[in-house]
Amino acid sequence: MSAEPLPDDDQGLALHHITVRFGGLLALDDVSLRVAPGRIVGIIGPNGAGKTTLFNVICGFVGPQSGALTLDGKAFRPKPHHLTRRGIARTLQGVGQFSGMTVLENVLVGARSRKPEADAWAALERCGVAEHAGALPGSLPYAKRKRVELARALAAKPRILMLDEPAGGLDADEIRWLAELIQGAQTTVLLVEHHMELVMSVCDEILVLDFGKPIALGTPGEIRTNDKVAEAYLGAAA
Ligand SMILES: Nc1ncnc2c1ncn2[C@@H]1O[C@H](COP(=O)(O)OP(=O)(O)OP(=O)(O)O)[C@@H](O)[C@H]1O
Ligand SMILES: [Mg+2]
Repeated sequence: MSAEPLPDDDQGLALHHITVRFGGLLALDDVSLRVAPGRIVGIIGPNGAGKTTLFNVICGFVGPQSGALTLDGKAFRPKPHHLTRRGIARTLQGVGQFSGMTVLENVLVGARSRKPEADAWAALERCGVAEHAGALPGSLPYAKRKRVELARALAAKPRILMLDEPAGGLDADEIRWLAELIQGAQTTVLLVEHHMELVMSVCDEILVLDFGKPIALGTPGEIRTNDKVAEAYLGAAA
């Protein structure tokens, strides 16, 4: 499948006709998406729909069999070790901290500027976990560890913040806090999430995947009333 390059003045990240196969399994089937600067874009779909795989393509962990990515209109071939330099930071599904390091050390890993300590502390404070800076992440409750994971990503001051199921395992209060953080992030956000209320309340735009196929793209209002989306979720529940 050929990919149309974007004109040079097209800012932001774009995926053009991305296809990923794992053996006989089509994990992503001709997925295209444009993420304009400052937008909050949700990616939803039943389990196994290909959401994390899409993130892995953007981060360079998975190479697509066909299709291309562009960043600001130019070819973008992501490599995991170049991501922070390109302004892309990601949290992992679940909690993925280095267990032998303190909270502060974990967050410092994310920082990339000339003043990493200051960025790390600012991120810890923004996420309300500065008081735990000297603790080991494993000693903290799950919700706090999720906040540390967010702080690590924010410490990079990313232009694109990628969140993979940040609400997983959180209670209603924590999810409200998370919604405010996302909306106040003042950066582009890509959000993979099963918690529909969160997705519908914070996203400007939502892409729906089902068995790797993009079945809908629209505003929360459009997605909420889309028949194909309802069918995909009913099918998954059955
Ligand atoms: N490295 C891999 N090798 C083989 N199959 C894989 C690999 N990664 C993902 N898959 C398969 O690709 C499909 C899409 O997986 P993916 O993890 O992207 O789904 P998801 O939408 O993130 O699901 P969930 O909501 O459960 O996190 C699944 O069928 C999964 O088993
Ligand atoms: Mg996933």
